[in-house]
Amino acid sequence: MLKILFFGDINGKIGRKALKKALPQMKKEFKPDVIIANAENAAHGKGITEATIVELMEAGVEFFTLGDHAFDRETQAEQIFTKGLPVVRPANFPTEVPGKGYSVIKKGKHKILVINLLGRVFMSMDYNCPFREIEAILAVENLASENLSAIIVDIHAEATSEKIAMGYYLDGKVSAVLGTHTHVMTNDAKITESGTAYITDVGMVGASDGVLGVKKEDIIKTFLTQVKYKHEIPESGPAMLNGVLVTIDEKSKKAIEIKSIIKNININ
Ligand SMILES: [Fe+2]
Ligand SMILES: [Fe+2]
Repeated sequence: MLKILFFGDINGKIGRKALKKALPQMKKEFKPDVIIANAENAAHGKGITEATIVELMEAGVEFFTLGDHAFDRETQAEQIFTKGLPVVRPANFPTEVPGKGYSVIKKGKHKILVINLLGRVFMSMDYNCPFREIEAILAVENLASENLSAIIVDIHAEATSEKIAMGYYLDGKVSAVLGTHTHVMTNDAKITESGTAYITDVGMVGASDGVLGVKKEDIIKTFLTQVKYKHEIPESGPAMLNGVLVTIDEKSKKAIEIKSIIKNININ
């Protein structure tokens, strides 16, 4: 049996602090074999930096997925891939974009394939088709012969329909299809017919007293005035950790259970 703890978008410094504070206890409680997190906005709400990835690794996260904000800090992101840190970027970016869209994590006797995809509905860029992209990845011959224990897909997308469609498209082909990007956890975690764990959105690790992790006053002002004000991320106050614990039978690669996790803590 293989247990994977997966966290939704880690948002800013408060998200990183929350993770650092809560993870030791969560490790005792859930005893995960591997800890993965979406970190597209771990660098204080805008992209990633080498320092923030290292900080999260020291806190206990072992592998990272990204999303539409992966290259907000362009050179930092490139550096992460050049140095070979345990990070994948969405697979359906054009091929010349630095980094890889999938990777195999080796942990003890387990080999876990992690694939990151971006949705296209209500997203600002014209990414390659995520359905065809993952079909191609799963068909790569050497991956099939890798003797994997699990295949985890992070579909980073806005539209619930696109994520649900991806969940059914991959039913029985992968161990888990986990949605990210909206920062709001959905209440639909389930195992689909042929043994794939699914949730439309895992949610967020960040400030809970705001709009998607951003100071609420700025967002309300933007809605009222139609002027884009600078978004601020609270550095202290209430924070939440949203994640899922997926239990997988490593022989069949099928999911047995998916459990939603919500933890609330205060950051001073
Ligand atoms: Fe995103
Ligand atoms: Fe995000």
